[in-house]
Amino acid sequence: MTNLKMALKASVAVFALTATSAVAEDVEVLHWWTSGGEAAALNVLKGDLESQGIGWQDMPVAGGGGEQAMTVLRARVTAGDAPTAVQMLGFDILDWGNQGALADLNAVAAKEGWDDVVPAALQEFAKVDGKWVSAPVNVHSTNWVWANKSVLDANGIAVPTTWDEFTAAVETLAAAGVTPIAHGGQAWQDATVFDAVAMSTGGPDFYKAAFIDLDSEALGSDTMKEAFDRMAFIRANVDDNFSGRDWNLATAMVINGEAGFQMMGDWAKGEFLNAGKVPGEDFLCFRFPGTTEQVTFNADQFAMFDQGGVVSDQQAALASSILSPSFQSAFNVVKGSVPARTDVSDADFDDCGKQGMKDLAAAASSGNLFGSMAHGHANPASVKNAMYDVITAHFNGEYDSETAVDELVTAVEIAQ
Ligand code: GAL
Repeated sequence: MTNLKMALKASVAVFALTATSAVAEDVEVLHWWTSGGEAAALNVLKGDLESQGIGWQDMPVAGGGGEQAMTVLRARVTAGDAPTAVQMLGFDILDWGNQGALADLNAVAAKEGWDDVVPAALQEFAKVDGKWVSAPVNVHSTNWVWANKSVLDANGIAVPTTWDEFTAAVETLAAAGVTPIAHGGQAWQDATVFDAVAMSTGGPDFYKAAFIDLDSEALGSDTMKEAFDRMAFIRANVDDNFSGRDWNLATAMVINGEAGFQMMGDWAKGEFLNAGKVPGEDFLCFRFPGTTEQVTFNADQFAMFDQGGVVSDQQAALASSILSPSFQSAFNVVKGSVPARTDVSDADFDDCGKQGMKDLAAAASSGNLFGSMAHGHANPASVKNAMYDVITAHFNGEYDSETAVDELVTAVEIAQ
């Protein structure tokens, strides 16, 4: 071999080594944060990691609520190519953890004292057999309403606190020719609204019995029929083009004053902020009428997939960044959620965020904190999807309320 050839070979080898080690320092993150507000929040996480020299390989899978992301995940795992870290909710984390697919984060959790600062309700979804398998990034909740303040003011509407006040406000807007409710007709969005409607109609004991304990009496009750009747009222007050609309486009209708209200989790706030809107001035946030003391929560977590027995340095760094108090504040201020730690100051949060933090703490201590049915914190995916099917069929007029109740009982029975 000539000297030139040897030198070339050596430099190629050095290049290959450099390239490999650069890749080894990346984390590949599968997530469904693709709307403007979600992407802005994700950038806080990317920036945090990049400042530590860890690169980010983005694996976005669009689709609110994450169903499509979970389908892609299953395909990746089946192909033996699990991503480093995956945005995940509630029972999905426990499912993957129980299958032994997730890495053991106990070392980093112990070093950083997660047991003492992560709320108990979240730990239930972050640990399997006493092992931390995912890092909670936030707490969202689904029982919120978002309103355009000038639309409400122009129509003399005060924030409704009861279902009757809410229906009166909706009717006022309809009479004024404004779309009362912005909604996206996708199963997970219908179910998100149903979380709040069921809680408001039947109260916390009913919500728990029906959605968490899967009690067939509660599922088949007159109260459940009334909840479906209320969904029919909501369906009657959305615009004609609601079907299939993405949630953030529904939020945009409220932002632009095309609609009065949107019932949606507090990720919607991220869209308002991303559009430069100010809570209390441009938009209002309030708990769904009749649910002021309750919180139906879902927490986004990053589950770390086992990459061969040991937690990689990158996984440990990602987990540690996610749980750091400064990141929890910076990220959740942008995302619309509240911190997944109990010891983070609310100083940097706007009024909706401050209220969210207060509500969460109060609900946790008064027994009013419940996992969201719509967002995978009440039951495994099989039951959740069975409920989705009935709720969405009813919303689209395939079932009347009585049939929906019967179908719900049967669907849940079969899914268990
Ligand atoms: C939820 C998730 C939120 C938000 C929302 C819409 O399931 O917890 O972070 O992304 O879906 O995409």
